[in-house]
Amino acid sequence: MSDPAAPTALPGRNDPCWCGSGRKYKRCHAGGERGARGHPARETAPHPQRIAERIKPGRISPTREVPADIPRPPYVDNNGVPPQPRRPVAPQQPDVLARMRRAGRAAREVLEAVGPHVEPGVTTDELDAVVHEHALGLGAYPSPLGYHGFPKSVCTSVNEVICHGIPDDRPLAEGDIVNVDVTLYLDGVHGDTSTMFRVGEVDAEKERLIVATEAALAAGIEAARAGAPLRDIGRAIQGVAEAERLGVVRTFVGHGIGTDFHAEPTVYHYDEPEATLRLEPGMTFTIEPMLNLGSWRHVLWEDGWTAVTADLQPSAQMEHTLLVTEGEPELLTATDATQPPRDRR
Ligand code: MF3
Ligand code: CO
Ligand code: CO
Repeated sequence: MSDPAAPTALPGRNDPCWCGSGRKYKRCHAGGERGARGHPARETAPHPQRIAERIKPGRISPTREVPADIPRPPYVDNNGVPPQPRRPVAPQQPDVLARMRRAGRAAREVLEAVGPHVEPGVTTDELDAVVHEHALGLGAYPSPLGYHGFPKSVCTSVNEVICHGIPDDRPLAEGDIVNVDVTLYLDGVHGDTSTMFRVGEVDAEKERLIVATEAALAAGIEAARAGAPLRDIGRAIQGVAEAERLGVVRTFVGHGIGTDFHAEPTVYHYDEPEATLRLEPGMTFTIEPMLNLGSWRHVLWEDGWTAVTADLQPSAQMEHTLLVTEGEPELLTATDATQPPRDRR
């Protein structure tokens, strides 16, 4: 296949066209088939609105180096594969928690440092450089670099890219939305957090999507209470998405985190009846809902990483790493502005 962005699964005739025009597939790109009124559908149907150009794979810059004095997570020297199998969920030890607070706050600090660099004309590779240098400055290893072969230090997911976008030479354009997902490995533990940035002015639908995604993450966090089943988190998120008629991505999930980047439990962002695990104080995991303006379905590019929406409509994601407590959940990936650290409250 020469065009990795072309959908591998075509929409149904009455579903929205994959090109993002908002028209039914049968009235848009279903070329050669009969149109709605019995006329042959035109190959190039005129579109009712201007369509943002879809994201295409760009050029990936050479690997950025990490000085030898910065400790690497174990998968880096094991072909990207974590040497430990996924371990069962267990409350974290106090010393691990103290380190996770530092790693989490550092990750959020790096994420927030990216914000001022986001503007039209800046490439996602330049954002990768910002994350890489800032991480090293804090003595941290950028966890994505070399994880299962991921070639860069951060994930950047623009418009219809749902997650795991690889930074490249595509300049951001006015009206784009971009998720930046920073994970740092510091003092033997990971902190994982992401948010959406707007490139200039974005349209009302993208704005609605971002606001709903923030509300969905907040609802998921609110549901993460000791004694509650894990299922409550996904149910809360799905409720927010459905009220806004947005799709919730099912394939990509939140995860336990600590000394491992991705650990048990699997955190669903939709109501999953099998998620019966009872939450306990000391559990640490991410919540990272991905909401779509259209279908929840995705298509994977040939690079094996970039997940785009099947209908090419925009997608948004936000992520925090959190700790279950006896009371309200503690955000480990927060800064003083969003949640003062425990010892200073
Ligand atoms: N940060 C992502 C997450 O939230 C994982 C990225 S894995 C990578 O779980 F290899 F793509 F970096
Ligand atoms: Co994560
Ligand atoms: Co992440």
